[in-house]
Amino acid sequence: QTIYLKDYKPFGWIVKDVSLRFVLHPTETRVFSTITFSPNPDPAAERRFFLHGEHLKLKSAKIDGNPVSVDITPEGLTCDVPGCDFTWEAEVEIAPAENTALEGLYMSNGMYCTQCEAEGFRKITYYPDRPDVMSTFTVRIEGDEPVKLSNGNPAGQGDGWAEWHDPWPKPAYLFALVAGDLVNHPDRFTTKSGKDVELNIWVRPGDEGKCAFGMDALKASMKWDEDVYGREYDLDIFNIVAVDDFNMGAMENKGLNIFNSSCVLASPETSTDANFERIEAIIAHEYFHNWTGNRITCRDWFQLCLKEGLTVYRDSQFTSDLRSAPVKRISDVIDLRGRQFPEDQGPLSHPVRPESFQEINNFYTATVYEKGAEVIGMLNRLVGDDAYAKALDLYFDRHDGDAATIEDWLKVFEDTTGRDLTQFKRWYSQSGTPRLKVAEDWADGTYTLTFTQDTPPTPGQPDKAPQVIPIAVGLLNPNGDEVLPTTVLEMTEATQSFTFDGLASRPVASILREFSAPVVLERDQSPQERAFLLAHDTDPFCRWDASRELARASILAMIRDGAAPDTAWLDGLERVVFDDTLDPSFRELMLAVPTQSELAQNLFEMGETPDPDAIHRAVETLRQAMAERWADRLPRLAKDTWVTASYAPNADQSGKRALGAAVLSLTTRLDGGAAAQAQYDAADNMTLQLSALGNLIRAGKGDLAVKSFYNQWKEDRLVMDKWFGLQVGAAEPDQAVEVARALTRHPDFDWKNPNRFRAVFGALAMHHAGFHRADGAGYALLADWLITLDDKNPQTTARMCSAFQTWKRYDAGRQAHARAALKRIMAKPGLSRDTSEMVSRILEG
Ligand code: ARG
Ligand code: ZN
Repeated sequence: QTIYLKDYKPFGWIVKDVSLRFVLHPTETRVFSTITFSPNPDPAAERRFFLHGEHLKLKSAKIDGNPVSVDITPEGLTCDVPGCDFTWEAEVEIAPAENTALEGLYMSNGMYCTQCEAEGFRKITYYPDRPDVMSTFTVRIEGDEPVKLSNGNPAGQGDGWAEWHDPWPKPAYLFALVAGDLVNHPDRFTTKSGKDVELNIWVRPGDEGKCAFGMDALKASMKWDEDVYGREYDLDIFNIVAVDDFNMGAMENKGLNIFNSSCVLASPETSTDANFERIEAIIAHEYFHNWTGNRITCRDWFQLCLKEGLTVYRDSQFTSDLRSAPVKRISDVIDLRGRQFPEDQGPLSHPVRPESFQEINNFYTATVYEKGAEVIGMLNRLVGDDAYAKALDLYFDRHDGDAATIEDWLKVFEDTTGRDLTQFKRWYSQSGTPRLKVAEDWADGTYTLTFTQDTPPTPGQPDKAPQVIPIAVGLLNPNGDEVLPTTVLEMTEATQSFTFDGLASRPVASILREFSAPVVLERDQSPQERAFLLAHDTDPFCRWDASRELARASILAMIRDGAAPDTAWLDGLERVVFDDTLDPSFRELMLAVPTQSELAQNLFEMGETPDPDAIHRAVETLRQAMAERWADRLPRLAKDTWVTASYAPNADQSGKRALGAAVLSLTTRLDGGAAAQAQYDAADNMTLQLSALGNLIRAGKGDLAVKSFYNQWKEDRLVMDKWFGLQVGAAEPDQAVEVARALTRHPDFDWKNPNRFRAVFGALAMHHAGFHRADGAGYALLADWLITLDDKNPQTTARMCSAFQTWKRYDAGRQAHARAALKRIMAKPGLSRDTSEMVSRILEG
């Protein structure tokens, strides 16, 4: 059954207040609800009284104290209701211990927890489970668990019970409950208006030592949102809970954020620098949702990008401010090109604001999140920082307490700037990645850039209209001096020219600075000019991208013509990588060659069929050439990356370690693993230990270290996830499937735990040459396990199906194997709605 945006109607009743009482039990939890309804005067509202409810055992239902007879379907119930205000009371029974889908109320390691976004509350009790129905909640929890938490402020507790009251009206998807044997890492924060807020991170006993970093990140986020967006926290308490079994990263429940433990727990011994940075960003992301998501929520799930795009944009600004803005921007572009571009250009392509869906959980995508954030970045760039700030103030002012839409969002920008955003809005409705071609002309001192935009057809959208594209450009003169600083050109037509006068000589243009729009730039540019930009561009993103283009061109020439690596490019690269006046993390990004899946994506964008084995060989040859070319200089560079101060996961130290890891991987190609072994033996933090282990495995010298690592860390779930993932990731292409298969037989392979499942199969899906093995063994193994997991956990299964989204790009043999695997999943009796929607889109789109 498909749901359409155009069918939206408000609910026929207003929920004035909700009171819930939970009597906890693993298999017989009772949920008592008292809900006051009032007829919605809106003439557009639907008149049928329907409460969502799934897998609930209804014990009793009353209206105004009198038993009422109800019609129950698998989706919910209806009954006759009075035409005036009334009180609904129900008692239902649920079995959290049997809930393996991890949606609604479930158990993880003996602890009760919830995940309600998007539509999980209906698995807890009967309710109008839609984001535009907002209400205040009072929650009473009864049970022996020492810690019992819900949203809002504490409202009393006693022997075996605790009560919570959330004064802020919220939709049911922000409801949360946690109960268990938990310990807290406490702290406090004083808001800018002087309000004292109690902060806690709640974890299982034993994990107390992994909370300090998350707590600092939380306080930094609270301060940043006050300073930059003027947003203050609005309750007396803010709780974060770490949960081991969780389908996604984290969830912004009002006053009670619930996190996948991998996204909050951190210590230097067990977490890498990348883990720390990710944790900091996710804590910020969930905290920022308090205003962009909770105080202003979404009218319906088609508007998901209203909160997610904006909140991703805000957390990226936060990371840019705390760390290095150019490094964050380049990393985000790598991620966008690596995850969002394949989605946008394949069978799963959908607009940032989709217009229909079967299962909303399938739309928590890179397009909604990351392209959604890019769209806001473009808006910011087009209107400027001052107007952006004014528009946001108006947004918070005008829509506080609302369930809002993209129309509301764009209107605040129109009202503050006087701009007409009708055409800009296409970024929300049109799917696919625009291709931007550029031609240059130089005559009589005038330089002209002519751009042409074109978006290829995507499923359901054969014809595309021109979009508003902010193109940031700068001009350099032949000496490398900037003659035009960054200027944003606003392209609105299919083809459009921009001229620059008064130039003494033909300039070199730096185009799409800071990656000012999520497009594929197609530029016929000479290697000399690219090398010039690599050497001289003042925009770090374009400088990095010039090198990327040269790397890409070199690798493609190696694949097609058996060419040798491009030494002119390597010369230019060398000057950056060995320049110790530059930020080490920027140098590390420069040194990294495009990933194999990115190269496959590039070939696809150029209309060619990628050969995973050929791509793998070319990248290996290139990396070997780099190692040999710089053999004499690597030891010195490695030394420059040593950190003598005690470990801190800050930008400075992690940049050095990242560059050090890149150097180690080149060195390992020359010394057979000696340096990696030395680093492994001496490592006192996970960043160094893990990069050493990866290199030992790649050098074929990993057997002992793999065992010792296991013995050292077998009690630590999050470190063991790394151990599982790395063995697959570092395997040879013809071994990755066998390694993954062997790991599924390991006693610690707990496939019902999403983190562990993803550790193995996420790593396999990301192993480009390993997963896309010509004989289809990678596809078959993943399909087997998706079929197994679907019974237990549809959400995680469906999400992992996207590993197949590029299948039609490969040769006929691979396609046949992929199709067979997909059909086998599709044919499974009782396949979930989640997975069946994904597989059918992938097959048909
Ligand atoms: N709102 C959460 C976040 O972005 C993610 C929830 C994901 N939910 C889902 N059903 N996939 O922080
Ligand atoms: Zn979010």
